[in-house]
Amino acid sequence: MADLTGKVALVTGANSPGGIGFNIVQQLSNKGAKVYVGARTAEKAQAGIHALKQANPNAVALPFVAEISDLKQVKEAAAKVLETEDRLDILVNNAAMSAPPEEQTWYGVSLTYAVKSSPVVSTSKPRNPSAPYLPTSPKACASPISTVPASKLANILFIKQLQKVFDAEGVPVVALAVDPGYVCTDGCIRFVGEERASQLPYKPLDGATTPLFAAAAPEVWAEKEKYAGAYVVPFGQIAPGSELAQDKALAKKLWDLSECVVNEVLA
Ligand SMILES: NC(=O)c1ccc[n+]([C@@H]2O[C@H](COP(=O)([O-])OP(=O)(O)OC[C@H]3O[C@@H](n4cnc5c(N)ncnc54)[C@H](OP(=O)(O)O)[C@@H]3O)[C@@H](O)[C@H]2O)c1
Repeated sequence: MADLTGKVALVTGANSPGGIGFNIVQQLSNKGAKVYVGARTAEKAQAGIHALKQANPNAVALPFVAEISDLKQVKEAAAKVLETEDRLDILVNNAAMSAPPEEQTWYGVSLTYAVKSSPVVSTSKPRNPSAPYLPTSPKACASPISTVPASKLANILFIKQLQKVFDAEGVPVVALAVDPGYVCTDGCIRFVGEERASQLPYKPLDGATTPLFAAAAPEVWAEKEKYAGAYVVPFGQIAPGSELAQDKALAKKLWDLSECVVNEVLA
């Protein structure tokens, strides 16, 4: 990673040292970025900031408080960032649950789709820094387990279309979808239990490596054509994804549906 002094980064789901998000935000902060620590509550965000500052007293960190399944909270939190900042260089949409109950948000959107995301957007100065969203039909998947691969497919499709939209509007952004690998995190321990989680190959800092590559590796900007809209897997390799993940019409359909739901919820 290059020096990030003067850059502003926002990472959702970054409150817990045992998670991937905290490790991403910590490394960005160690490189000099001013960071926004995303969490559902102010207390959780402050706990994350406290942990960051204990390890690095020079860290410049602010809270980004939003329950991500609630679009109105996300919009309000993004508006606060806009009031304070005139730039957002890195946005990591990391917050997600490993395998939540298949509930719906207050707006009738599948909770898994509304929250689950690990795309990264790294940018020089986006016009709209609010987090990309992945809402779709609440009935799309039958079980919490089956929503996980489906939501990952949605991430990849969404990022491809997002990149297309940025390019068409001339917004200088590189958007990537990221798979951090199998990582033993707090969330995984809650999901599969300590014994099984401990057999996963990666620790949270390893899991942060591929998102950090997407967010801040100089070659991603230097080779924009190669990485724009790509899906990267450990450690920073581009993967083609499934046949469905390359379906442009499906990506557009998901985008249109997402826009429709977002507009409806925020109306
Ligand atoms: N671990 C893996 O093997 C693995 C594999 C593939 C992909 N991923 C992806 O990597 C990302 C991080 O995973 P992880 O294993 O580090 O998970 P984790 O330990 O469960 O951490 C998830 C973070 O997201 C936050 N979060 C969850 N739901 C939220 C919501 N509705 N609103 C706001 N914040 C919310 C959590 O906050 P709370 O502390 O309040 O719950 C926590 O800070 C996720 O997108 C996950 O899908 C992980």
